[in-house]
Amino acid sequence: EIIFVKAREILDSRGNPTIETEVVLESGAVGVAAVPSGKSTGKFEAVELRDGDKSRFNGKGVLNAVRNVNEVIAENIIGMEAQDQYLIDKTMIDLDGTPNKSKLGANAILSVSLAVARAQANELGISLYKYLGGLNANLLPVPQLNILNGGAHADSGLDIQEFLILPVNFTSFKEAIRAGAEIYRSLESILKKKGYSVGIGDEGGFAPKVKNTEEALSLIVEAITNANYIAGKDIFLGIDSASSGFFKDGYYNFEGAKLTSKEMIDFYENLLSKFPIISIEDGLAEEDWDGWIEFTKRLGDKIQIIGDDLYVTNIERFSKGVELKATNSILIKLNQIGTLSETLKVIQFARFNGFNAIVSHRSGETADAFISHLVVGMTTGQIKSGAPARMERVEKYNELIRIEEELGENARFAGINVFKKFLK
Ligand code: PGA
Ligand code: ZN
Repeated sequence: EIIFVKAREILDSRGNPTIETEVVLESGAVGVAAVPSGKSTGKFEAVELRDGDKSRFNGKGVLNAVRNVNEVIAENIIGMEAQDQYLIDKTMIDLDGTPNKSKLGANAILSVSLAVARAQANELGISLYKYLGGLNANLLPVPQLNILNGGAHADSGLDIQEFLILPVNFTSFKEAIRAGAEIYRSLESILKKKGYSVGIGDEGGFAPKVKNTEEALSLIVEAITNANYIAGKDIFLGIDSASSGFFKDGYYNFEGAKLTSKEMIDFYENLLSKFPIISIEDGLAEEDWDGWIEFTKRLGDKIQIIGDDLYVTNIERFSKGVELKATNSILIKLNQIGTLSETLKVIQFARFNGFNAIVSHRSGETADAFISHLVVGMTTGQIKSGAPARMERVEKYNELIRIEEELGENARFAGINVFKKFLK
């Protein structure tokens, strides 16, 4: 039974305020959870409540969200059983009463939702991933490591936001992450040698002012080779275009040109012929449904096509995407929708429809590694948590190393299996 709920304002990895909530149960079990924050956010995400008071954090304070937890949500869920996650989440959704959680704030609601789950796992004395997934929770994910940053996350000048490496040909998560870290450092050496900056972006990847997408990918392939791995066998490549950021008035303003959806897809098809790319996220914009349908028709049997801003972890938008065959995969971000239960339903729906689901961090993060437990608990097989550097990114990977160790010989690494359908 929940006896105490308290929220506070803390800082995220960018130095912006965010919310952390503590939930205490009658038994003494405690759950604490902090929520992350995006920068290249989708237009249809649930509302992250910010104070707008310019005298504090330039308007980004979250004291109203904190107050909503301490003064509104607390009195409505105190006395409820922490095991009743769905009922607690529904209670908060009803209290809010808006379709996008704009009254109480998705940040306020999510901090409570996650803290409740943690408190209940602690009450049972089991790891969070086991609470979420039980005996089935034994699959360690392929990490999508963002080692070169562009778009809204860096001043590299690159239009594509994320250049990702996906270590697949390994027998454990630990070895996969080791390869990722070695390649990250190998990329640093190459950049230095070529006279590029080794400064980093919001997600810990390097942010060199390279010419374009092709040069960025070539540098990464070279880094993979120099680290003694084989690109296209041990390591695949992925990109997150976050293309809503360069879509305007029906055109993609990309690398100095004004492209139609079709020309954008042509660009990706050409990239696939030159680089071992297995995954493209938000290749098209959040409102370009017709473009997405064409994209998936043309390339959906060769690569993982992920909707992030397109779906915003929202079951209605996702159902539409499934029906239209707009993608073959979905990115999962808890704070895009605002409760654990709604997120679990979206993951289940993905599974029923044969879609890959990739659990993701945000560009503004905290030390909270909830997503590491979510990805193992729900056995989705892939996680995206930035570079293998900067503690708020690394902590998610380190938690997975700990989980793998706890599972011992029962642990399985997802590896190439999650991409099998694209490699016929
Ligand atoms: P964001 O970026 O957290 O800034 O929205 C992450 C992503 O687009 O995947
Ligand atoms: Zn994205």
